[in-house]
Amino acid sequence: MTTRGLLFFGLVILCASARAQAPVTAATPPMGWNSWNFYAGKVDDKAIRDTADIMVSSGMRDAGYVYLNIDDTWEGERGADGVLKSNSKFPDMKALADYVHSKGLKLGIYSSPGPKTCAKFEGSYQHEDQDAKLYADWGIDYLKYDLCGFREIMNQQAPNDPAKQNQMMRDAYEKMHQAILKTGRPMIYSLCQYGFDDVWQWGPSVGANLWRTTGDINASYDRMTLIGFQQAGLAKYAGPDAHGGHWNDPDMLEVGNGIGKRMLTHDENVTHMTLWAMLAAPLLAGNDLHVMTPDTAAILTNREVIAIDQDPLGKQGDRVFSEEPVEIWARTLKNGKTALAIFNAGESPSSLNGIKLPLGKVGFASGAKARDVWQAKDLGTIHDDYHMTIPRHGVVLLVLSH
Ligand code: GLA
Repeated sequence: MTTRGLLFFGLVILCASARAQAPVTAATPPMGWNSWNFYAGKVDDKAIRDTADIMVSSGMRDAGYVYLNIDDTWEGERGADGVLKSNSKFPDMKALADYVHSKGLKLGIYSSPGPKTCAKFEGSYQHEDQDAKLYADWGIDYLKYDLCGFREIMNQQAPNDPAKQNQMMRDAYEKMHQAILKTGRPMIYSLCQYGFDDVWQWGPSVGANLWRTTGDINASYDRMTLIGFQQAGLAKYAGPDAHGGHWNDPDMLEVGNGIGKRMLTHDENVTHMTLWAMLAAPLLAGNDLHVMTPDTAAILTNREVIAIDQDPLGKQGDRVFSEEPVEIWARTLKNGKTALAIFNAGESPSSLNGIKLPLGKVGFASGAKARDVWQAKDLGTIHDDYHMTIPRHGVVLLVLSH
């Protein structure tokens, strides 16, 4: 072979191995914990270290919850060189990242393409490369990038011009995507712009592994189910791809949380977990792990439900039947199985009042072998007249096979 031939051959090998090593992130929906739903502005270094410890001792890490994500309010001021510092609640972010990594977990962080975040802390506007490099130097593995302050820039620079505003927003997300790539460190890239402009249609083109599809969740059954059931029709936008995967994000979990003294009930938590698993949603717990009850821990770490969420086919589920207060959702799983979730959004238990299970519609016209997931019980062969009683705000989750 000539020298040129050898050089060319070498180059081909190099490119091929670089591709082989290209970081694969989020091949299934990311799982972890995020500080916002419980701590909001009160999150600090100690809360994150404690949470890391409990994620290990509670079995959450081993169940798959590996990302520990610091949300808004960690940011301090920029130095004269433009380099951002963390604020006094986070004295040493690198040391914190080392601690989190030493527990077999990964660390996530939060910023905005705008000058200010939603909680009015410093954003990454015009410091994208610097911030991405800082995250990489600290050892950050996940970035949630929240539009917030950038909307003011959009309004100032393109008043009454939605098309231009949309382009500005996409450019801002792509800018940080490129900044992350330049660091060479694999980071999950999570878009948060509340679902505007059908983000599911263009999220992957700006490097997103996940994108929020809605406004903020809260720890009430009504808000949680409103968001969850609104996801109907978005299934085709989610799935694995050559660079990892891209997922619809109906917001973080409120399992184990409550508003005031009104905690979500057992059945409401089970509904939340089931619905998110049917949606192939990221599972980012948001509860105070210091006071997590055994019931909450059992719901969050149920292996069979997690396996549905994390099914390697990555096919998001969708609604197959709805007649108030019953919603039935189906999700295709690997090995020819199907998850079927029968929700009762009513204020009293439901025995389905003559509603037949839509088994034919999901490929089991002549009956199915069924397993009741939350009961951890094989039911044998069932038909569309299978009888069940679903508690108020509860769900029956079946896995069907031939
Ligand atoms: C927005 C996001 C929330 C959270 C807060 C932080 O409201 O949607 O998830 O990140 O900002 O300020």
